Amino acid sequence: MKPTAARIVLTGANGGIGRHAAAAFIGAGAAVMLVGRSAAQLSALSRSLQAKVAGSAARIAWQVADLGKGADVAELVAVAAEWRCNVIVHAAGVPCFGALETVAAETMRQVLDINLLAPMRLTQALLPHLRSQERAQVICLGSALGRIGLPGYSIYSASKFGLRGFAEALRRELSGSGIRVQYVGPRSTRTSFNDAAVEAYNVATGTSMDSPDRVAATLLRSLHDEAAERFIGFPERLAVRINGAVPTLLDGSFEKHRRSVPPLPASAASPTRRPGGPAISHPTESPGAPR
Ligand SMILES: NC(=O)c1ccc[n+]([C@@H]2O[C@H](COP(=O)([O-])OP(=O)(O)OC[C@H]3O[C@@H](n4cnc5c(N)ncnc54)[C@H](OP(=O)(O)O)[C@@H]3O)[C@@H](O)[C@H]2O)c1
Repeated sequence: MKPTAARIVLTGANGGIGRHAAAAFIGAGAAVMLVGRSAAQLSALSRSLQAKVAGSAARIAWQVADLGKGADVAELVAVAAEWRCNVIVHAAGVPCFGALETVAAETMRQVLDINLLAPMRLTQALLPHLRSQERAQVICLGSALGRIGLPGYSIYSASKFGLRGFAEALRRELSGSGIRVQYVGPRSTRTSFNDAAVEAYNVATGTSMDSPDRVAATLLRSLHDEAAERFIGFPERLAVRINGAVPTLLDGSFEKHRRSVPPLPASAASPTRRPGGPAISHPTESPGAPR
């Protein structure tokens, strides 16, 4: 839809990509409800956006919500419906990088909860309201890793593959309803989402990192043209196509990536054997646990 017709609920608004997306949407004439967990940060962001875009004060709102908490989500849905939102951009997310054996069970749960279940819950709860709008859009900020599984990203990829599957199925389910469901898949992006281990992996594997501005511009473009799926950057866009068609064709292409995943701590690397029992390894706290 035209940005000037959009009333966007933006989760993850305080994040590296979220802040740039908020500025891009507001600069293009949209109204934006900033959603995050810190009232102080949301209020400061709202003021700085108002200062940047003349006349935007009436178009900026904010709402505190922890997307892992049912009561917060229920309140957000009520406020967003009253505010007459017609677009939701799911940009909140948590990272997870490291060998599978190093990922703690609680980290796994949190990654799947915030990256996958939270957008599903929020979309479901907002759907009755979105159906009452002439046009509406649900934009899922996924990842290239929602199309290509890379060594070191098994849990994160699972969450983003899930999100892409959700978006694809729901788009087809809602076709003809006036609600468009979209998936935007950036590659690695320069924000605090990526810790030093990820940066080292990116350098070692020659993975390019985009600016959050580039992702924000892509989100704005997707708002406008309603493209079903959009991925950012080359060779990622090509890899996404090949992997989508014949994933096993690429199985041998990620040896450098495999070698660049941080090595296992000794305790996890050497499985112990219970007397008479199967080999077991010891999951430890993940070095790439969500911050
Ligand atoms: N950076 C990358 O390389 C990259 C690449 C591809 C895709 N992405 C995706 O892009 C999105 C944004 O990433 P980013 O780089 O902007 O990361 P970021 O700077 O770490 O921002 C993540 C945002 O998610 C929010 N969030 C996390 N847990 C939450 C919860 N329980 N409830 C509500 N909000 C929560 C955080 O809110 P608070 O401000 O309240 O902490 C934060 O604003 C994520 O979905 C990520 O998977 C990132």
